[in-house]
Amino acid sequence: MLLPYSNMLIEWHSGQEKFTLNLPWVSLEIEVTSEDHHWVKVAIDNLYQDSAKEEVQKFLKFFEEYNVYYIKPRHHKDSLIPLTPEKEKLPNKQTLDLPINLIHWISDPYSLSFEVELASEWQWDLEEIYKISAVEGSPYFDPLSVVSFLKGKMLEIDAQGSHYRQGLPGLLDELRKSDEAKFFAFMRTLIKQTHYITQHFQQYSPLSLKPFAHASEEIKQFIAEERGHDKLMEASLGALGTSPEELDPFQEIVFLMEGFRKAAELSPLAFTLMIGFFEGENYGYSDPLADVLKASSKPKAGLGYERHFEINKSENHNQVINNLAEKLNLQTKNQVAFTTRLLELISAIGSGLDKILATQVENILLSSS
Ligand SMILES: [Fe+2]
Repeated sequence: MLLPYSNMLIEWHSGQEKFTLNLPWVSLEIEVTSEDHHWVKVAIDNLYQDSAKEEVQKFLKFFEEYNVYYIKPRHHKDSLIPLTPEKEKLPNKQTLDLPINLIHWISDPYSLSFEVELASEWQWDLEEIYKISAVEGSPYFDPLSVVSFLKGKMLEIDAQGSHYRQGLPGLLDELRKSDEAKFFAFMRTLIKQTHYITQHFQQYSPLSLKPFAHASEEIKQFIAEERGHDKLMEASLGALGTSPEELDPFQEIVFLMEGFRKAAELSPLAFTLMIGFFEGENYGYSDPLADVLKASSKPKAGLGYERHFEINKSENHNQVINNLAEKLNLQTKNQVAFTTRLLELISAIGSGLDKILATQVENILLSSS
């Protein structure tokens, strides 16, 4: 059963001819025809009070692509119980108490010089995640509830930095027009980050095959589709007269990939959500960074992003999270705690990086004008 996120706001307008639907990550205005009006009104009136109603379920399903719902825990299914309730090598409770402890646990040397600003305390309510995903009459948690609910939490953080990310291609295009050499210098740094991610993504993903044997077919297929993406980025760097070895990854990017390595090694649940984090949501018509590069005097530098984008889009990589989630067993409390904390950390870093990148380009533009 589907349940609406509690922060969804729906309002009728113009004598109920249309309504608006708002979540931190989506704003929709929907006109309702007279044939549809009855069931839509029933759905909206009962959204929270009686979510099981057929109309409500139909309504939520209709807006599926906008991530408006999470999934209620299913009934206890013996087939989903983990065979060996892992005495996991997961971090202990104290490690999960504060973001800084988890940062140190994941990757000590890289915790010291983050440029992104992170909250010193956790912002997500772990008890809430337990509550919405607990399977009745068992000590376990439904992975579909955890994944669908945390997707919403990720989108919420993402929305805080999305204006920076959406603004970045425009700023870069401005820089390209005003000072192409500075534009290329910035793009080298940026492509290096993508190169580092794709390279380590390929390296670490196979670590999930053992703990997540249930999904080995899906994971292998996905790994095959990701293979060679680092070479595409290497070629782009070549077109800009440099190579990956000549450039440094941001400490935050190194940390993200160390987090991904831990997820792949230790937690199919965290691995699934991190794939979702990297693959993102809906793909637009073309890759905005590829477009800016293609407009420059070195258009070949845009091929890496372009090709990567096409593969993600044609292979529906934004759906991989859902395919993997279907294969997950019921989860232990430790797994849910680790995944929730890791995801908050990763999402906050991702969103912080969006802000830093946009600000850097703004500063370059200011200093050269
Ligand atoms: Fe991908």
